[in-house]
Amino acid sequence: MKSLLVTGGAGFIGSNFVHFLMETTDVTVTVLDKLTYAGNRDSLKGVPEGRVELVVGDITDAVLVGALTERADAVVHYAAESHNDNSLQDPRPFLDTNIIGTYTLLEAARRHGKRFHHISTDEVYGDLELDDPGRFTEQTPYNPSSPYSSTKAGSDLLVRAWVRSFGVQATISNCSNNYGPYQHVEKFIPRQITNVIDGVRPKLYGAGQNVRDWIHADDHSSAVWTILNRGEIGQTYLIGADGEQSNKDVVERILKEMGLPADAYDRVIDRVGHDLRYAIDSTRLRTELGWEPRFPHFEQGLAETIAWYRENEAWWRPQKAATESRYTEQGQ
Ligand code: NAD
Ligand code: DAU
Repeated sequence: MKSLLVTGGAGFIGSNFVHFLMETTDVTVTVLDKLTYAGNRDSLKGVPEGRVELVVGDITDAVLVGALTERADAVVHYAAESHNDNSLQDPRPFLDTNIIGTYTLLEAARRHGKRFHHISTDEVYGDLELDDPGRFTEQTPYNPSSPYSSTKAGSDLLVRAWVRSFGVQATISNCSNNYGPYQHVEKFIPRQITNVIDGVRPKLYGAGQNVRDWIHADDHSSAVWTILNRGEIGQTYLIGADGEQSNKDVVERILKEMGLPADAYDRVIDRVGHDLRYAIDSTRLRTELGWEPRFPHFEQGLAETIAWYRENEAWWRPQKAATESRYTEQGQ
């Protein structure tokens, strides 16, 4: 594999994947990204000239997608509307991008006979009880809760159908919550870090008992690269790094790390339909493909992420005020 088409490569996880590829491989990359509110060309600053091209366009544009797919060896599909809270306010863009966009890419991969890797989420499995000893596996039945997660579930099922009916050479990965540099300030961890920088108290939904299974974006990238090279066609791999934390614990850790009392946060109204707990069993990826995370300690990765937001205010500042005014309107 010498050249990749990476959709959504100007977003959080996609841009981390492009930086990962630049540092650890010699592939060239075409990024196809619409640069929605969540995309940022500055997230690709510093990549070697000549190895990364950014094409600004929509994954629902069949002509553009066909031309870019034809000239790539493989497609890695990150582009999506990704934020649950936005999907509860206005689901329509989620259907367009996550369903029709994925369909458009699958048709191009089918027509041009290209390897396809679909990036998905653990949210397709719904949620677990807080006291459930179990974790999600590749066999867990789909049970999505939000407009966002239901469109991701739909896109996964399209990929499975295109493998079985049309022989598309595809794999799927479902990953847990990512953190790290270049994450939009609408998301939980960057929102709280940048609030503290601004002298604003962090906002916790409800009682903060909900549990997320955190993984550093670099570890997600190495897992995707492993699956792209060694994964079995037609298979699904769960990606996780044993990083379960309650939201309350995460907020308290951010506050302490940033030199404030652990209780200096506000409780705000809860997300409707709020999933209780996500937890990933990544045994298959580890045993069959030999992948291991590099950031086993959430504390270390979180401290590095806080430092990144302190040092890169110019990157996030332009989005902060509009994001917070949206949350204020929602009472969050
Ligand atoms: P993000 O919102 O930060 O980035 C999404 C990118 O896709 C943006 O650059 C945006 O401009 C682009 N995009 C949106 N609609 C597009 C369209 N129609 N055409 C072209 N580009 C478009 O999202 P993220 O958090 O980086 O998530 C990336 C992928 O990873 C998504 O598929 C998401 O479901 C999945 N995922 C995310 C997480 C997480 O914790 N953030 C965890 C597991 C899986
Ligand atoms: O599990 C993978 C998913 O993780 C991805 O598929 C999604 O794209 C990604 O956005 C993320 O979804 P979440 O809804 O879990 O992430 P979010 O950052 O929005 O919220 C994390 C938790 O924090 C969730 O329980 C809601 C809570 N929260 C969020 C915000 C923004 C708060 O308590 N306060 C906040 O201000």
